[in-house]
Amino acid sequence: MAKRNKIAIIGAGNIGGELAMLVARRELGDAVLLDIPEKEGVAKGKALDIMQTGALDGFDSKVSGTADYKDIAGSDVVIVTAGVPRKPGMSRDDLLSINLKIIRSVAAGIKEHAPHAFVVVISNPLDAMVYEMKKVTGFPKERVVGMAGVLDSARFQCFIAEAAGASVKEVRTLVLGGHGDTMVPVLSACTINGIPVTQLVAKDKLDAIIDRTRNGGGEIVKLMGTSAYTAPAAGAIAMAESYLKDQKRLLACATYLDGEYGYKDLYMGVPVIVGGKGVEKVVQIALSAEEKAMLDKSAEAVRGLINDSAK
Ligand code: 2OP
Repeated sequence: MAKRNKIAIIGAGNIGGELAMLVARRELGDAVLLDIPEKEGVAKGKALDIMQTGALDGFDSKVSGTADYKDIAGSDVVIVTAGVPRKPGMSRDDLLSINLKIIRSVAAGIKEHAPHAFVVVISNPLDAMVYEMKKVTGFPKERVVGMAGVLDSARFQCFIAEAAGASVKEVRTLVLGGHGDTMVPVLSACTINGIPVTQLVAKDKLDAIIDRTRNGGGEIVKLMGTSAYTAPAAGAIAMAESYLKDQKRLLACATYLDGEYGYKDLYMGVPVIVGGKGVEKVVQIALSAEEKAMLDKSAEAVRGLINDSAK
């Protein structure tokens, strides 16, 4: 008997609520929004609130809320947003120790109740969190990824479109590396309808846009007093949809590296093909000497975070 996809969302905060809405509106499957017992009411309330827009928005996905990991059983995809978000003045790295504890308990719940799921981690500091997720679940590397590069690339696309006076739909970018200040916009892969952006946007403007992209998350935290949630949710949904529909999209995702780009036993943003088997291929592209040096620096920063996690 055919069955609907089941998408579990761990964390019923701002990002979790956006995710549940996107899963429902795009009818990716039924959604289960899970949070800790103290927040069970929020999970159930958000789920009910979204369900009640079904008649208006024309979807019949079921959205439920819970505090019991048994309810994520059989999930095809689990998207993890659990953890403390940043406050103004904080870096993502400042969240390491508190969010490590949370991610370990979440990983244990996923391992027990959704052992065949494709897991997309959003919680920060992203690269360390997704590394820990793979370590604790023991899932194969192709089924544990981090959402970062798609978000950073989308921010970069948005700023380039603005600077060039072009439609963002024509802009393609690639931002690799760790999800933080050391992220690497690969200019040689950035185009507007196939035309290199370096021919369309002046260098000084591009440099400013790269800085703004690196600080894209922080800019929103400063404005709103808390982390972004609409764009991160959209990034995770793009990855989940490519898996659920076997779209084989080439996306920048935090992926387990086992020698690719010269890095071993590390999670970092690289271009990958996401299809029905999860990460089906790590795409190794030619980088300029400068881009590779920046990627090495980013790998070092991520390695430092992962080492701190092991302490
Ligand atoms: C961001 O960059 C939440 O890390 C996410 O907004």
